[in-house]
Amino acid sequence: MFLSTISAISFVQVAIASCAHGVEWIHPFSANIAPAAFSYGTTTGPLNWHNLNANNILCGSGTNQSPILLNTTSSLAPSGSITLNVPPVPNVAFENLGTTVEVIINGTLKAGDAAWNFKQRVSHCSRCATSYMLNVSMCRFHFHTPSEHRVNLVHYEAEMHFVFTAADGSAKITVLAFLIQIGPGSSYPFLENIFSHLPSIPNAGQTTQVPRVDMRGFVAHANQMSYYQYTGSLTTPPCSEGVTWYVATTPIPMYVRTYRNLKNTIGSNSRYTQSDLGQANILHLL
Ligand SMILES: *[C@@H]1O[C@H](CO)[C@@H](O)[C@H](O)[C@H]1NC(C)=O
Ligand SMILES: *[C@@H]1O[C@H](CO)[C@@H](O)[C@H](O)[C@H]1NC(C)=O
Ligand SMILES: *[C@@H]1O[C@H](CO)[C@@H](O)[C@H](O)[C@H]1NC(C)=O
Repeated sequence: MFLSTISAISFVQVAIASCAHGVEWIHPFSANIAPAAFSYGTTTGPLNWHNLNANNILCGSGTNQSPILLNTTSSLAPSGSITLNVPPVPNVAFENLGTTVEVIINGTLKAGDAAWNFKQRVSHCSRCATSYMLNVSMCRFHFHTPSEHRVNLVHYEAEMHFVFTAADGSAKITVLAFLIQIGPGSSYPFLENIFSHLPSIPNAGQTTQVPRVDMRGFVAHANQMSYYQYTGSLTTPPCSEGVTWYVATTPIPMYVRTYRNLKNTIGSNSRYTQSDLGQANILHLL
């Protein structure tokens, strides 16, 4: 009874106007950013995502689900192996999807990665442990409050996800993640710039334009950071696995007032911590 009510609303499985193959199924929204079929509430929230749609089965039974607990013993990507590039551009779309706010912008990521399954062979890769290099493109990034990943059991105030798809057209996804720590002292200008437009998109389905986004200063720092690396899943339905995660070990700063605006717009949109990699899903243990 309860479950059939839920499945009645699960038909919203429409491709977005995507700029990269494979990203469609990260956010099952329509081109007009219709409300998501899932939420962070009760009946359509994370504990019941696996019952909302047959495609979401891994949200309940997957054994390599994200987010996870990270700590000082977690694997790191090889030092200096991450190269993010996001050229400055005018007129950037900024959207309130109801489940997050998202910035539509192109970028690329190159990462030496021995674990990546859909590698591109490159001939001149002197810094890579293997002769392979991950070469993927991004068309959007979004935010979660509080953070989804926890380090040494601690949540940060927010988390930013740059989502990449493989240039070879395979459906594989890579996420470059940054934990955000609030404070009075500093923030990145690109975050302040983007979030200064939050008042234009208070409600789900609204979109606005940021006149210019230049994140080269942030990107230069990001390319100096260390990253935890593991293979997990999307943290939203359909919770697909085989997602390569890079989570920066250094949290990035943001002003308290900016965080307050972000939180008031997106609410709490974090999936709860999943079982350790390879372990039975907690929803199956209950
Ligand atoms: C680090 O995390 C792993 C996986 O959750 C866990 O097995 C291990 O005990 C943790 N180590 C410390 C020092 O907390
Ligand atoms: C991203 O790049 C693609 C391919 O070059 C282009 O068609 C698309 O318009 C770009 N999107 C944005 C938001 O700049
Ligand atoms: C990465 O992919 C782009 C096209 O998607 C290509 O132009 C570029 O040469 C590739 N770089 C490497 C190092 O393979």
